[in-house]
Formats: sequence, structure tokens, C-alpha cells
Amino acid sequence: MMALSDFNSNFLLILRWSHIMAGITWIGLLYFFNFVNVPFQGVLEKELKPRVNPILLSRALWWFRWAAMVTLFVGLILFVVKYGVGGESTGLLRGDDGKLSGRAAWIMFGMSLGIVMWFNVWFVIWPAQKQILTWMKAGQTPPEMAGLAKRALLFSRTNTYLSGPMLFGMIAPNNYGAFSLCSVVTVSVFSTVIMWGLIKMSHKVGQTV
Ligand code: HEM
Repeated sequence: MMALSDFNSNFLLILRWSHIMAGITWIGLLYFFNFVNVPFQGVLEKELKPRVNPILLSRALWWFRWAAMVTLFVGLILFVVKYGVGGESTGLLRGDDGKLSGRAAWIMFGMSLGIVMWFNVWFVIWPAQKQILTWMKAGQTPPEMAGLAKRALLFSRTNTYLSGPMLFGMIAPNNYGAFSLCSVVTVSVFSTVIMWGLIKMSHKVGQTV
């Protein structure tokens, strides 16, 4: 018969696996929007937009927002199981000195960024895109449309920049325990520069077969 500890670790493994599967779906689509779709929209003929975008983007946005939801939901369960309910007994939450452990600090840093990103998806990017696609489908281009598109882009870019440090916060607990302001700043600056370069590059690459 399976021991209780085996059950717990198998349960944790399935939680982590589902969390990462959903997470890569979400962040993969975020990168698709930022590195592929933004340059694509820049060269797509205006007349084609109402024919292409509602069909393509409503599907992409469905996977995007629900993957974000599943990632958050499973991530919060993971947090409660590892740091909340079992955390005190497994020693993950607090170090020997009784203070918040480096491991817990990293995951809280990653989770905070992840939660901001989830909020941006559900309460800024999706409502704006939903309105834009509805207008497009009806063949309307009201003056507010450009403002909404700008807002969606700004928040989508913000999420792209946040994704680097967020993911570092996710993997640091298992690979790198020490937490300090210096490492947070280093990771954030390093990842911001890389993202900036990738966004710039996305307008130039892959234009020919
Ligand atoms: C949206 C909010 C999120 C929350 C609340 C959350 C929560 C968590 C928690 C509690 C853990 C366990 C940490 C540990 O083992 O000490 C974790 C691990 C992880 N998360 Fe997230 N997460 C979020 C978003 C994401 C996203 C978007 C991704 C992208 C792929 C991601 C990828 C990972 C990875 C790769 C691990 C490491 C698993 C391991 O090493 O076992 N998470 N997350």
C-alpha cells in the first residue's frame, strides 16, 4: 500500500506539473502576442484586420486568460500545501531563527509578480481586447479604440517585463535559497535588458522564409 508520504509527494508532483503546464501555456502566449503578433499587426493590411483578428485572437485570448487562471489557482494551492498547512512542520516557511526563510521570500516575490500579471490579464488586457474585437467584428472603429489598444499593449509589455523576475522567483526556491535585495535587483535589471532586446529584435527577425 502507498505510504502517506508517497501520496503527498505524488500529489505535490502532479500539482507542480499542472502548474507548470498551465504556466508555459500562459507565458508562451504572452510571448506570442509580444514577439509575433505586435510586429504582425504592424504590417497587416488595415482591411484584413477585421477578417483575421477576431477569428485568431479570440481563440488565443481564450487559452491565454484561462491558462493564467489555472496557473494562479494551482499555484495558490501549491503555496498553501508547501508553505501554509505543511510549511510550519516542513520548515519551508521559517528558518531556524524563526524568521521568514530565503526560500519563502523568493516564492512570495515570484507570486506577487505573478498575481499582478494575472490581474493585468483579467482586468485590463482581456476587457480591452474584448471591446476592440467586438468593434472590429461589427466593422466599427470608434475614436476610443486606439486608446484601448495602447492600454492593452502597455499592460501586455509590462507583463512581458515582469515575467523574467517572476519566473526566477518560481525556480529560486528549489535551486538557490539565499534571498537579498541585491539578487532581486540584479535579476530584475538583467532580465529587463534581455526583454528590451528581444522586443526590439522581434520587429526584425523571421521576415523571410
Ligand atoms: C500566477 C501566480 C503564481 C503563483 C501563485 C505561483 C505559485 C507557485 C508556488 C507556491 C510554487 C512552489 C515553490 C516551491 O517549490 O517552493 C511554484 C513553483 C513554480 N512555478 Fe509558479 N506560481 C505562479 C505563476 C507561475 C507562472 C506564470 C509560471 C510559468 C511557467 C510558474 C512556474 C513555476 C515553476 C517552474 C515552479 C518550480 C516548480 C519546482 O521547481 O518544483 N509559476 N509556483
